Amino acid sequence: MTLLELETHQPLIVNRKSQILNRPRRLRATPAIRAMVRETELNARDFIYPLFVRHGEGRSEIRSMPGVYQLSVAEAVREAEAAAKSGVSAVILFGIPKEKDPIGLENFSEDGIVQQAIRAIKKEIPEMVVVTDVCLCEYTDHGHCGILNTGEHFHTGLPEGYVLNDETLDVLAKVAISHAECGADIVAPSGMMDGMVSAIRAGLDFAGYENLPILSYAVKYASSFYGPFRDAAEGAPKFGDRKSHQMDPGNVREALREAAIDVEEGADMLMVKPALAYLDVIRTVKNAFPQLPMAAYNVSGEYSMIKAAAANGWIDEEKVTLETLTAIKRAGSDLIITYHAVDAAKWLK
Ligand code: PBG
Repeated sequence: MTLLELETHQPLIVNRKSQILNRPRRLRATPAIRAMVRETELNARDFIYPLFVRHGEGRSEIRSMPGVYQLSVAEAVREAEAAAKSGVSAVILFGIPKEKDPIGLENFSEDGIVQQAIRAIKKEIPEMVVVTDVCLCEYTDHGHCGILNTGEHFHTGLPEGYVLNDETLDVLAKVAISHAECGADIVAPSGMMDGMVSAIRAGLDFAGYENLPILSYAVKYASSFYGPFRDAAEGAPKFGDRKSHQMDPGNVREALREAAIDVEEGADMLMVKPALAYLDVIRTVKNAFPQLPMAAYNVSGEYSMIKAAAANGWIDEEKVTLETLTAIKRAGSDLIITYHAVDAAKWLK
């Protein structure tokens, strides 16, 4: 039976058109209308591009992160130039030191690898916003994010090997000041030590950097999505895990507590990390602290999953990446730290 015949047999259907008042599809009819009513739109300026800097020459690809490299200082400048050309306005630096020791001395050394990279990037591309990760794990021989409870630092009452909070704060403040002296634009403490924002704020202010913003990794989970990063930055813990300072994945009330503490301590921007498995946390923190810019870290494991599926031809890399980044922004993140930054910026053009 044709539609016409159907209507003559069942005339009620004729009236149906006027009964449907709400047709959301009207606003999806053409690309131009869809663009007019789009609520969340990505921009290259939303992205912060991570760079891994190491001593020596050239670049070496990270096995578990196709398209991401450990870079010499000169290569880091080249990569930052490519980022700037694509419209990305910020990078975040991670360093792989020449030598590791229990405290991580290169972390605050004048000619440490990150210090060299900051100076070189700011010299060649002054408008590039250089963010630095402030943590101990890439620099310590044990791979932990702080000074350990052992040897001369041993406290009875705390387990052997525990990451000591307050001793670590002194080092974090030193690292932040050292980055500031080289010209860093923003420091981003990622170690989840209690009081880290206050300690860094006090150190920076004392050293005359009261205008240098702190982007706090306020809400950072003990996540298995960091696996590939630990290859990239060579910062995996030699024993144990990071559960005594990073958050339990089941918790969101605690995220509000962490964020509130960091706001009180003077954080200028907050971060939630990882992003994809924590979109609800991004939204919750954003709603609670709408007055601060929010960042989310689209971490290494999230990147590698897309790259692996795309390499197998199972998903469309460009579309899935842009959809993922849109979701992170829609959840409430103003800024996204992402290894996809340069590709995504090019695709958006
Ligand atoms: C700590 C740090 C880590 C990441 C960023 N900063 C590793 C960790 O906490 O173990 C992970 C980022 C990623 O997975 O992309 N310096």
